[in-house]
Amino acid sequence: MLFNLVVAVVFALCTASVEASPGHGTGSIVDVPSDGDLNGSNFTYPWPLKLYKFKSQLQDLEMAFMDVPPTGKPNGKVAVCLHGKNFCGPTWEATARELAGAGYRVVLPDQIGFCKSTKPKSYQYTLQQLSYNTHNLLEALGVENVTVIGHSLGGMTSVRYGLMYPDSIDEIALVNPLGLEDWKALGVPYRSIEALYKTEKVSNYTTIREYEQETYYVGQWDDSYDVWVNMLVDIYKGSEAGTFAFDQALITDLALSAPVIYEFGLLKPRTLLLIGEKDNTALGKQWSPPDVQKKLGHYDVLGDEAAKAIPNSDLIKFPDLGHAPQIQEPDRFHKALLGWLSK
Ligand SMILES: *[C@@H]1O[C@H](CO)[C@@H](O)[C@H](O)[C@H]1NC(C)=O
Ligand SMILES: *[C@@H]1O[C@H](CO)[C@@H](O)[C@H](O)[C@H]1NC(C)=O
Ligand SMILES: *[C@@H]1O[C@H](CO)[C@@H](O)[C@H](O)[C@H]1NC(C)=O
Ligand SMILES: *[C@@H]1O[C@H](CO)[C@@H](O)[C@H](O)[C@H]1NC(C)=O
Repeated sequence: MLFNLVVAVVFALCTASVEASPGHGTGSIVDVPSDGDLNGSNFTYPWPLKLYKFKSQLQDLEMAFMDVPPTGKPNGKVAVCLHGKNFCGPTWEATARELAGAGYRVVLPDQIGFCKSTKPKSYQYTLQQLSYNTHNLLEALGVENVTVIGHSLGGMTSVRYGLMYPDSIDEIALVNPLGLEDWKALGVPYRSIEALYKTEKVSNYTTIREYEQETYYVGQWDDSYDVWVNMLVDIYKGSEAGTFAFDQALITDLALSAPVIYEFGLLKPRTLLLIGEKDNTALGKQWSPPDVQKKLGHYDVLGDEAAKAIPNSDLIKFPDLGHAPQIQEPDRFHKALLGWLSK
């Protein structure tokens, strides 16, 4: 009888601790080298690198991140910058320096499946999961409120983050976010994950540069863009090449399957859209018929539409810039971003 009671109590305690462990700021943080191969990326990161180790979907995962302290007079605020699909945390280096100079602490994560983070063999990617992972990382760091800054797929994730965690957000800045339109509703045909994987597997310097030059940089190329192409090529050719390509295929499928546009009206935080209007990025455009292609990726129109749909929003346009204004014209971009944040 007593034995049974003890067993029951022990069982209850164990169950409780198992259930409490995933997420909610649990997990541990360890230091790792900023250079050398880590989970398939050999890129040297500009600040000390850390891994947030946690359990997710029954797997042990590591999310790599940098935590940049303020260099100017601290303003008590924390910014988290979310990278796009073809980028990593370090792509935010120049922006992080500006933010740190303005007094922000800046957290720069690599999402699961990207860069120096774990490449799971299989993972149920959703924008909710990526937001949840990011929120748990911030909780583990003891961060309460954040300014969320997201580019491209990171911008689409920021919208979801804003919908999930409105009470812990100071402001949101979206830089040419994906998801300003619902590609599948506009006619982009379904593409299987196997087919997406095939394309990902043959990615190399030429294919990535051609894609970025055409869709990101208004047909122009500057040698300074090469660093980000090479950072990516290194992962496509690196020690985790196969799983990376597969994860990237899953992520493309996620973005095509998970529109955020229908929920813009529900977004509560003060939000800024920073839009390079020459951007013509649209997922699935390459494999769509010409009449569908014509309808996609008109950021000169999409920026205005999003600003109308998001209640507490402002729009800053860069008429001559493409998908990555922070890379194309950092000075102009940072003046616009920092000017809006300080208001
Ligand atoms: C990712 O890198 C960390 C640090 O080297 C290592 O502990 C971990 O096992 C790696 N993850 C995988 C899935 O290989
Ligand atoms: C990593 O990069 C360094 C130079 O930056 C190079 O010497 C080394 O061979 C690379 N390692 C891998 C695994 O690519
Ligand atoms: C966090 O942000 C929310 C929403 O903007 C705000 O109501 C709250 O006061 C902030 N909390 C702190 C500790 O700044
Ligand atoms: C990349 O792959 C294509 C074929 O898919 C090939 O034509 C091109 O030469 C390759 N580029 C590099 C830099 O390997």
